[in-house]
Amino acid sequence: MEQHWWQQTNIYQVYLRSFYDSNQDGIGDIQGVIQKLDYLKGLGIGVIWISPHYASPMDDNGYDVSDFYQVSPDYGTIDDFKELLDKAHSMGIKVITDLILNHTSDEHQWFVAASNPFHPEHHKYHDYYIWQPPKNDEQGQKMRPTRWMGWFGSPAWTYNEATNEYYLHIFSKKMPDLNWRNASMRQEMKEMIRYWIQLGVDGFRVDASNHLEKNWEFPDDFPGYHHFSSLPKHHEYLKELGSDIFVPMDLLTIGESGGASKEEALQYAGYGSNEFNMLIQFGHCWADVDDSNSVLMGKWAQGKLRLSSIKESFQNWYEMLENVGWNVIYWHNHDQPRIVSHYGNDSTYWFESASMLAVALYLMPGTAICYQGEEIGMTNVDYQELSMFKDVEVFTEYQNMLAKGLSHEHIMTIIRARCRDNARSPMQWSEAAYGGFSKVSPWMPSNGNYLTINVKNQLNQPTSILSLYQHLLNQRLSNENITHGKITFLDVSSQKDFSYLNTGTTEEYLVLCNFTSSKIMKSLNGLNLANYSLIYNNYFTLQNLENEQELLPYESQVWKRVISQ
Ligand code: NOJ
Repeated sequence: MEQHWWQQTNIYQVYLRSFYDSNQDGIGDIQGVIQKLDYLKGLGIGVIWISPHYASPMDDNGYDVSDFYQVSPDYGTIDDFKELLDKAHSMGIKVITDLILNHTSDEHQWFVAASNPFHPEHHKYHDYYIWQPPKNDEQGQKMRPTRWMGWFGSPAWTYNEATNEYYLHIFSKKMPDLNWRNASMRQEMKEMIRYWIQLGVDGFRVDASNHLEKNWEFPDDFPGYHHFSSLPKHHEYLKELGSDIFVPMDLLTIGESGGASKEEALQYAGYGSNEFNMLIQFGHCWADVDDSNSVLMGKWAQGKLRLSSIKESFQNWYEMLENVGWNVIYWHNHDQPRIVSHYGNDSTYWFESASMLAVALYLMPGTAICYQGEEIGMTNVDYQELSMFKDVEVFTEYQNMLAKGLSHEHIMTIIRARCRDNARSPMQWSEAAYGGFSKVSPWMPSNGNYLTINVKNQLNQPTSILSLYQHLLNQRLSNENITHGKITFLDVSSQKDFSYLNTGTTEEYLVLCNFTSSKIMKSLNGLNLANYSLIYNNYFTLQNLENEQELLPYESQVWKRVISQ
C-alpha cells in the first residue's frame, strides 16, 4: 500500500460565510477562521478545506467566481488569507481551497467580454463559454437549443440578446459553463491555480469535477443530465491538471464526482492516476429518496431510509479502492441536510443518534472529512418563512413545486427537510445572541436551538458529542489500525443496524450501531467474541458481549481487541 501524509489526517470543512464573524458585519470571514485555529487543532484537524473565498456576486455563495485572483471583501483581504496560511502552517495545519473549474460568474470579465460583441476582447473570450443558436418553434418564436435542465431546477440555457445566442449553465443562470475544449482557457486556469499554490495553499477540493466535458452534439433531451456528467473526455482535462500541476507540486487534491464506476474510481483516485488523491462521492448521501414519487424528483422526494444502501456504498468504495487507491469518509457537506436530522433523530434521541452517527463513521478506514457544526450535533434549520432561506436553489424549486400544485405549507416542510441551507446556518459557538457567531444579525438566521446546542456547552464535558469527536478524530491522527484497517460489514442487508469490523494490523474494532428508535437484538453468531473489551458506549453503561447483543435506540458500542502477532 502506498503511504502518504494525507492518509493519516482529518479534514474539516469550513463554510466561510457561516463559520465565525470576526468584524461584526454578520458574515463569517478569514480572520474568524484564524481565531478558531486553536479550537480546530484541539479537535484533531490536520487540514482545513475552506469554501470559495474568491470575489463573487454571491449568487451561489461564492461558487460563482467573478475574479479568481481576488479575495471577496466579504471575507477579508489577501493579507488575511496569507495570515491564515502562515498561522495554520505554524500550527501544523494545512489549508486547501475550493477550486471552481466548471463555470465562472456571469460578472467575470471573461463572460462580460464573451457576451458582448462590441467588447474589444469579445473574439478571444466568446469561445471560453458554450453557446448555441436559438431553435425556432412553428410560430417562429425563439426556443432553447435543448430541454436540458440545470442542477438547481431551472433550464440549463439562457438567452443572450446581444449575440442572439443561448449560453449553457448547468447551475444558476449567473454561472455560465466554461468550454474546457478551449486550450487558452485551460492555460489561464492553470496560471490561476499556480498563483494560489505559490501563495502557500496546500491543495484543492475540485468542484463539479465530472462536469467539465459536455455532449457537443447537443441532442434534445429532458432533463439531459447525462449530456454534461461524467463524459469520458473530462478525465483528459483532469489528467492535464494532474500531470502539469497537482502531482509535480505534491498537492492534496480531492475531486467531487457522483456515481463513479470501479473503473472511474481508479481513474480519479487510484494511486498514480494523476488526477486526484481522493474523491468525494455521494453514494451514501441520499439513502432515503423515494424513486417511485411521480411528483417530486431526486432528493426532494423523501422516502424511507434504506440503511442497507448506505452500507453498500461504503463497502463498495472500500472494495473498489482497496490497496489501489484511497477513500474519503464523510457524512455530509454544505449541500446536504444535517446528518443528525437526516439519518438520526434530532428530537427525542438527539444525543444518542448524533453520537451513534459519529461512531459509525469515524471508526472506518480512509481520510475523514468533518463538516462544521457536525461535531456538536447541529441540526436542520427551523425557519418558518420562505424569506429566511438564502440558497438560490430553494427559490427555483419552491416555484417548481408550486407549479406542480403543492401547497405552501407542504413545500415548506419539504424544503426544511431537504434543502442545502440546513448545513449553512451560522455555527453555534455559545448561548450568546446569534449563537456567538456574530454580534449583529447574521446573513442568514441562526438556528433557534443555539441556546442548548453550542460549542461552549460541550467543551470540556467528557460525555458531550464534541468530546466524542475530539477523541475519535485525535485517535485517527495516530492510529493506523483505524485509518488503514480493513472493513467488513456484519450484515449489509439489515435495515436496522450498522455494524462492522475494522481490522488493523495490531487491533480490531467491532462497531455496533442501532440506526432505529427502538430496541433491537443484534445477532453476532459466527463471530469469535473472545478478548474484546468495551471502549465506548453512548449510553455509558457496562455491557457484556453476547451472541445476541441488545442495542437500545440509537445505541452505539465500540469493542476492541488486540490482535496477537
Ligand atoms: C458543488 C458545490 O458543492 C455546490 O455548493 C455548488 O453549488 C455547485 N458545485 C456549483 O459550483
